[in-house]
Amino acid sequence: MKYIPSLVPAIALFVALPATAQPVDIARGRALAETWCVTCHVIDRDQATSVPIGPPPFPELADNPDTTPERLASFMRMPHPPMPDMSLTNSEVNDLVGYIQSLKQ
Ligand code: HEC
Repeated sequence: MKYIPSLVPAIALFVALPATAQPVDIARGRALAETWCVTCHVIDRDQATSVPIGPPPFPELADNPDTTPERLASFMRMPHPPMPDMSLTNSEVNDLVGYIQSLKQ
């Protein structure tokens, strides 16, 4: 088969679809963020508790045009220090990504 560059994005989208097509439970994503992420990340626009300097606030991630669901999900699956390995399940990652995206303004 000949290599046709213009087909590559279409194929990449096709492969990514099953992962993002699952139903998303935003409330569960929010609850997970409150449990696991709130000590390091600002998880919404009204957060009063303080966090260390460094981890990006979730609303900022949501507003960043470079943020894609794939990028968020792969970051959560392959954590690097000081972010601990949280061993999130696929459905937890899915809900957290949905929650973060719901913050977009
Ligand atoms: C112990 C602190 C800590 C905890 C807990 C933590 N994070 Fe992070 N996180 C970080 C730091 C630090 C970075 C920045 C790393 C970098 O950019 O090199 C980061 C970066 C990220 C990014 C990168 C986004 C991007 O594209 O640049 C995402 C997404 C993320 N965290 C999601 C989460 C989620 C979801 C949770 C909860 C399930 C969580 N984090 C819990 C410290 C933490």
